[in-house]
Amino acid sequence: MHEVYEKTSLTPKRVASFGGYIDWITQPSVFKHYPDFLFSYTFGEKEQLQMLELSRCITSSEIIGAKPYNKLNTPSAGNLHPIELYVQIRSVKGIISGIYHVDVGTNRFVLIQEIQEDGIETAVGVFHKFEGMIFVLSCVPYRSEWKYGERAVRYCYLDAGHQIAAIEAAAAINNQETTIMSDFDVAALNALMGFKGEEFTCAVIAIGEKTQKSVKSLSKSLIHVAPTDYSDSKGFVPNVIAEEDVLKSKVYPILATKEAVLQRRSARKFEDLPMAQDDFEHLMHMFSRSAYPLTCYCVVLRDDVKEAGVYVNGKMIKSGVFTEMLIGLLIDQHFIKNAQMVTVITAKHFSSDKLMLAGAFAHKLYLEAELRGLGFTGIGAFYDEKMQEFLQMKDYILYVCAVGK
Ligand SMILES: Cc1cc2nc3c(=O)[nH]c(=O)nc-3n(C[C@H](O)[C@H](O)[C@H](O)COP(=O)(O)O)c2cc1C
Repeated sequence: MHEVYEKTSLTPKRVASFGGYIDWITQPSVFKHYPDFLFSYTFGEKEQLQMLELSRCITSSEIIGAKPYNKLNTPSAGNLHPIELYVQIRSVKGIISGIYHVDVGTNRFVLIQEIQEDGIETAVGVFHKFEGMIFVLSCVPYRSEWKYGERAVRYCYLDAGHQIAAIEAAAAINNQETTIMSDFDVAALNALMGFKGEEFTCAVIAIGEKTQKSVKSLSKSLIHVAPTDYSDSKGFVPNVIAEEDVLKSKVYPILATKEAVLQRRSARKFEDLPMAQDDFEHLMHMFSRSAYPLTCYCVVLRDDVKEAGVYVNGKMIKSGVFTEMLIGLLIDQHFIKNAQMVTVITAKHFSSDKLMLAGAFAHKLYLEAELRGLGFTGIGAFYDEKMQEFLQMKDYILYVCAVGK
């Protein structure tokens, strides 16, 4: 994946050549929609499905330029949402057992296929009936490639990481535990899901119990529905994603409330005010310890709570006020100006797994910031090599976050 990192890195030259104009009329559809003749449950109809609603739902809606502009409980680079969510439900009282699509655009759980003696289990490496829910999370690269070109590889996985953590958060609120499934043939699962090369599984998460009851494989693939109204991919992004593995690592435990999930937003500006000392220390502690196997470089921008400078694992490695430098490294994103700190999430290896972990870690931070009344945002646009030079290291830079009042 080193070549993919290089090829998807941002340099001043690449940013300049990409151009600024984008014709939003050509945006591919943001939400996949299965045919209306399929049976569905509406959000809010069944209490047993509340946890699912909290995993993926629209939390803000407006009309911009005669088009709906929806924001979800999960953030997304450019609000493009290149993620889809499916769930197999078995033996949940009052719910037809089957494979559902979470149709977030119409607030419905659409039953793609009923199950009984058969199911998706064998395709995700479970050889007995699994009672509960098996989530299949896919990405639709063209939704992001349309705007971001090759860089979309990274944004798809970061967005997927947010979705994974959103499921973790919903499970935690319901006192449920999750298991990551990764020991199966991903290409075979993609075929079974009816994805046909436009959509790719990136994580499988289960909540429930393995039983000793035997289960049959599905006799045929699910019906194919295109995830976007059109596609004009140059090939690089889907080709990379088709070769990559699903999430393997266990993700971080999440602290959340229903309100925090529904209210989470990305900060668009920061007040020129210091953060409370205990909020600052709590975040610093999270940046130093909780991100393992990732490493966070924390750039404290303001001198008011702790000396400004760059910190790793709680230790200062460079002193100074680097606000202007950071704005430049983040491709002139001036809105971070009054943030308390900007954290750069890095890894020794560059892979889909590490990118998803970075997205999941940032999601955990979003929710903790929300609980503490702080502003937080993920930032995916930065000059990779210049950032490495600034931090005096060669590790891979995966994601950046800004937090403040
Ligand atoms: C992977 C990723 C990269 C992002 N990059 C940036 C960025 O570079 N600059 C920025 O201002 N916001 C960035 N965001 C925040 C999105 O713009 C924001 O999530 C989106 O507009 C939806 O708004 P919401 O998070 O309030 O729902 C990013 C979000 C994600 C998930």
